[in-house]
Amino acid sequence: MSETVLNDNAFLVSETNEKGIITFVNDEFCKVAGYSREELIGQAHNLVRHKEMPKAAFEDLWKTVKEGNVWQGYVKNSTKSGGFYWVYATVYPYLNENKQICYMSCRRKFEKSKLPEIEDLYRAMR
Ligand SMILES: Cc1cc2nc3c(=O)[nH]c(=O)nc-3n(C[C@H](O)[C@H](O)[C@H](O)COP(=O)(O)O)c2cc1C
Repeated sequence: MSETVLNDNAFLVSETNEKGIITFVNDEFCKVAGYSREELIGQAHNLVRHKEMPKAAFEDLWKTVKEGNVWQGYVKNSTKSGGFYWVYATVYPYLNENKQICYMSCRRKFEKSKLPEIEDLYRAMR
């Protein structure tokens, strides 16, 4: 499976509603994930989940943002064509203009030297 390595300045953004349904994606997220905007909006965010990601990581993500806090962590996502890419994600809750709770994730490239440690940790968590 082929890896997509993010550009140094890449910033991949998506937003969901309270149930994790995608409501916004920026162009860079679409490009790296390999989906059109139309294919992503309205889908559950686990559409891009990689099978090697431990369940506990996302349980922690959801618990953290539902408590009103910011979650940061390393995420391996799959692409439409069956490849993958790693990101360092910051996920936070906010209220939209209708005062509904929404969540936003901003994803960046991270230092490659950290990867073995993260892969070991996630393998142990699976
Ligand atoms: C704003 C936001 C962004 C998310 N981004 C991702 C993501 O990029 N990849 C991913 O696998 N899950 C992401 N999730 C978590 C998913 O909603 C979901 O919990 C996860 O994919 C695990 O799927 P499951 O809950 O069906 O087991 C995100 C959640 C939120 C709130």
